[in-house]
Amino acid sequence: MYINRWITRFFLTAWLFAFIPALGHALDNGVARTPPMGWNSWNRFACKGLNEKVVRETADAMSSNGMKAAGYQFVILDDCWQNGRDAQGNILADPARFPSGIRALADYIHSKGLKFGIYTDAGAMTCAKRPGSLGHEFQDAKQYAAWGVDYLKEDWCNTLPHQNSESSYTLMRNALAQSGRPIVFSICEWGLSKPWLWAGSVGNLWRATPDIQDCWDCKNKYGWGGVTQILDLMSGIESYSGPGHWNDPDMLEVGNGGMTEEEYRTHFSMWAMWSAPLVAGNDVSNMTADTKEILLNKEVIAIDQDPLGQQARRVRKIGGREVWSKQLSDGGRAVALINRGSEAETIAVAWIDIGYPATLSVNVRDLWTKKEQNNVKIGYSAKVPAHGVVMVRLIKPR
Ligand code: GLA
Repeated sequence: MYINRWITRFFLTAWLFAFIPALGHALDNGVARTPPMGWNSWNRFACKGLNEKVVRETADAMSSNGMKAAGYQFVILDDCWQNGRDAQGNILADPARFPSGIRALADYIHSKGLKFGIYTDAGAMTCAKRPGSLGHEFQDAKQYAAWGVDYLKEDWCNTLPHQNSESSYTLMRNALAQSGRPIVFSICEWGLSKPWLWAGSVGNLWRATPDIQDCWDCKNKYGWGGVTQILDLMSGIESYSGPGHWNDPDMLEVGNGGMTEEEYRTHFSMWAMWSAPLVAGNDVSNMTADTKEILLNKEVIAIDQDPLGQQARRVRKIGGREVWSKQLSDGGRAVALINRGSEAETIAVAWIDIGYPATLSVNVRDLWTKKEQNNVKIGYSAKVPAHGVVMVRLIKPR
């Protein structure tokens, strides 16, 4: 009798311990409790267009055009800000592009009430062949902290043939922790090693997908795709994302010209549905009214920033008609009906698809048209334009 009880206890304990590591631990550096929001130079300015003037103008624009008020916070320099190391191995900014130096730029950005982000690479060189951090992790992290860096993106180009991503990024995580400054850590290895399986305790966000292309449905020569390709890659990895540790489907292309307004609305809505980092990648000093309306839609941003931090799941897919749903911290739901096809379609969601009883009566608010229907039961349907979205918030009446 006693022996049986002890055997049962032993197996139960062993079972528990076997599963604890699988639950993972979120990186405990206190930052990025909601998905980071900001701007990054790469998608619009790439290597050639990056300089101090562009970055200062961007910070000016963000602090006065409503972006800062809407929650966009980080101003992030991507590849090509750096061009060498000094005799002691300290990383140096390109003096032709950044004549005032990085510290002065960080101070300027901070003076606008914004935060400052920078870019490096886990290999010996960045993708644009500037010096990477391999072998300089602790020295670089110390330098970033001294400059006032608040966000670091670390890329994966020119790494050694057998370099291990988990150990490389863990090294930089430790270096950042030792720097004494809270720094959001953005892992950028394009989803190669399925980082969602290991990066929750290493970074605050990790790219789950290759580089975004500014198109609705296309692939470039490396197989990197546009919005529809990313939609498929983001489905199935929902449970790995949450406060402090986010799946990152890459930066926004809204306003860069490769998609229609309708497509950009779908792109932005889905990033918000996924609780993805919202990092604008356009020229925010020169935005059209349409671009501004998308990037500044506060009700859509509130879905992205919902404190529960859930990544939406695809609950239904019939041909090109898809229903995605995410639970919100108030017990409500955000639902996106998306139409991947080239003709308008009616798309429906049933309450039972999203964890509600059919008899539940909810208010349905369209987050783009701002129209509301009260006391809706069973489900909701809407006509969705080609490549478009209808995004609604379901609110339980009090
Ligand atoms: C990689 C990254 C991009 C960008 C470029 C810079 O492709 O995935 O986001 O940082 O490098 O060279």
